Amino acid sequence: MKALVLSGGKGTRLRPLTHTLPKQLLPVAAKPILYFVMEQIKEAGISEVGVIIAPETGEMIKESLQENPWQHRFTFIMQDKPMGLAHAVKTAQDFLQDDSFLMYLGDNLIGESVKSFVDVFVKENLDSIILLKKVADPRAFGVAVVDEESGRVLRLIEKPKKPPSDLALVGVYLFNSSIHSIIADLKPSARGELEITDAIQNLVAAQGKVKAHILEKWWLDTGKKDDIIEANRMVLDEFTQRDIRASVDNNSNIAGRVFIDSSSVVENSIIRGPSKIGKNVVVKNAYIGPYTSISDGCLIENSAVECSVILEDSKIISVEHLDESLIGKQSIVTKHKGIKKSLKLMVGDDALVELP
Ligand code: DAU
Repeated sequence: MKALVLSGGKGTRLRPLTHTLPKQLLPVAAKPILYFVMEQIKEAGISEVGVIIAPETGEMIKESLQENPWQHRFTFIMQDKPMGLAHAVKTAQDFLQDDSFLMYLGDNLIGESVKSFVDVFVKENLDSIILLKKVADPRAFGVAVVDEESGRVLRLIEKPKKPPSDLALVGVYLFNSSIHSIIADLKPSARGELEITDAIQNLVAAQGKVKAHILEKWWLDTGKKDDIIEANRMVLDEFTQRDIRASVDNNSNIAGRVFIDSSSVVENSIIRGPSKIGKNVVVKNAYIGPYTSISDGCLIENSAVECSVILEDSKIISVEHLDESLIGKQSIVTKHKGIKKSLKLMVGDDALVELP
């Protein structure tokens, strides 16, 4: 069994952050989303991993995987244009050959190990397993209709205006080599992409054995700002252990499940978990509330920060209350010294500023 991780695409919904960083590398609990994917693949016992990359961001993806603590054997596969998930499989055919494979979208996170699906797939000799999750509004996803008794998939449709069920396709799939001939005959969808959802529908129509597993635990498709904040909240909640390695003075109070790297400094501050603070961070006269992740090299001074994700080398200084915010790398958020109660902004392209 091999794995195929899709880390191409454009990431337009997460601009401006994705102007400089592929969305698969955005951090959740101070760790790139793609690393969680690689951990799950290792847990499933797979080590042969193909990674689909795009010309614009491929080098950054490669670099981020260089340390490779999972000891995967990586093959990087360039997809010149994001022409769809099934097109990505087509592009990876030389790598995949006739092996079965686990396909994982590099910007998806699930709260369940994939090992059990891999085991069922092998044991029952299936052509495909798809993962589904009940959602309130499935119109932005692929949607499936499933026979409840047998677990067999009856019908699939990509981003339907009138969803036939509330079961959305999660970006994790298992296939055997029968998917390749189906993809070879596939026509582009209305949005001009070769859709994996259409390929699975055709596999079902050709009497392929396609089963569904409905996720009980959480699933996060990290497409937008609020998804990242929510993913950060879920992951911090589930995985953070109290581990305070930093130098903390006597005037500070650190409560609950907080991780702070040994190279960081905390002075006269309150930190409440679950929260995570990376390397070389200075927290001074500040309050860090629950569900906050602060990446390496940041300064948080005379400020309160809560339920937020702060990327590398940013400074938050004299800010009364920063909540549910996603702050990009090397940003500065501070109070100005003028007498006028005006806002002074230098806001990059595609940014969002929400005022009280
Ligand atoms: O997130 C789950 C959804 O993912 C499913 O419910 C849908 O059925 C499925 O089509 C897909 O929908 P999206 O429109 O959200 O996919 P997106 O374009 O965001 O791409 C998902 C990932 O795959 C992302 O990490 C980028 C990568 N990708 C995407 C395309 C279109 C590629 O590597 N190559 C591509 O050609």
